[in-house]
Amino acid sequence: MTPRIVVTTPIPEPAAELLRTAGGELWISQEGGSLPTERLHEVAQGAHAIVANLRDRVDAELVEAAGEQLRVVANIAVGYDNVDVPALAERNVQVTNTPGVLTDATADLAFALLLMVTRRLGEGERLIRDRQPWSFELSFMLGSGLRDKLLGLIGFGQIGQAMARRARASGMRIAYAARNRVSAEVEAEFDAVYLSRSELLERADVVSLHCPLTSETRGMIDAHALRAMRADAFLVNTSRGQVVDESALVTALRQGWIAGAALDVFEREPEVAEGLLELDNAVLIPHLGSATVETRTEMASLAARNVLAVLAGRPALTPVWPNRTGG
Ligand code: GLV
Ligand code: GLV
Repeated sequence: MTPRIVVTTPIPEPAAELLRTAGGELWISQEGGSLPTERLHEVAQGAHAIVANLRDRVDAELVEAAGEQLRVVANIAVGYDNVDVPALAERNVQVTNTPGVLTDATADLAFALLLMVTRRLGEGERLIRDRQPWSFELSFMLGSGLRDKLLGLIGFGQIGQAMARRARASGMRIAYAARNRVSAEVEAEFDAVYLSRSELLERADVVSLHCPLTSETRGMIDAHALRAMRADAFLVNTSRGQVVDESALVTALRQGWIAGAALDVFEREPEVAEGLLELDNAVLIPHLGSATVETRTEMASLAARNVLAVLAGRPALTPVWPNRTGG
């Protein structure tokens, strides 16, 4: 078999080199931006492997367009809400993602957002760039300290735990809510308290989202959840934009239901709710969680190694199974 490998977006050279070792035809999009669905279906024709990213809709129609020979879709992302995993499993197409390699980069960014919003760093930067007058004053632009504050993590997988590690170094206490309780050893490592989601929302000084986007978590942070939070609490989101009801968040920030929010992801990326742009207590970052040279190279290389494994008839390194998705 001479495999045809289709990559829907430009990838770092080390990953392309790995894919070349498959010895088949390698098509890498140089078209910039995400491929429109029609174009995606066109280039997928005859593919044995597709290397996709989170903007590609990977579903039964794509598999149909590719043809029966399709064996694997490697998503260059840890999240796979863009993939209809059951539909692909039904057609014997293996789905893979990229866990692990982006854990630290994403936790670093989540913690940077936490600092930005609690210490008003975006606001301070804007003030200087706007050439506003300022001087050191004991009461000037005071933020909130972190020591002994409660960080409430929703989702406590690898990234949530890496975030907890950074927060502990700043003296924060840790609570988490998740579908599955972690082991006593992991709880002990972080001195972490397991709470129901509603209890966590009521108690946390900072709520940080580290859950996947599933049917359960879509719209989870809605008006009701935001009203449950403390008026002096902050929200950090590095998971998926659709976990948060953005228009409810605008209301919450305007009305002072919460003190601030820092967002790396948005409900309708790359669109950002108009109301957020006018709010000084919102920190807005363009989906940079895993955006380091090292991490993106590792993500694309892991996707490539998954493709090579499956095409060679070996098990995928980081497979995604249907029962773990919620889509
Ligand atoms: C990025 O958002 C990812 O899921 O890897
Ligand atoms: C979501 O809350 C999860 O981590 O299971």
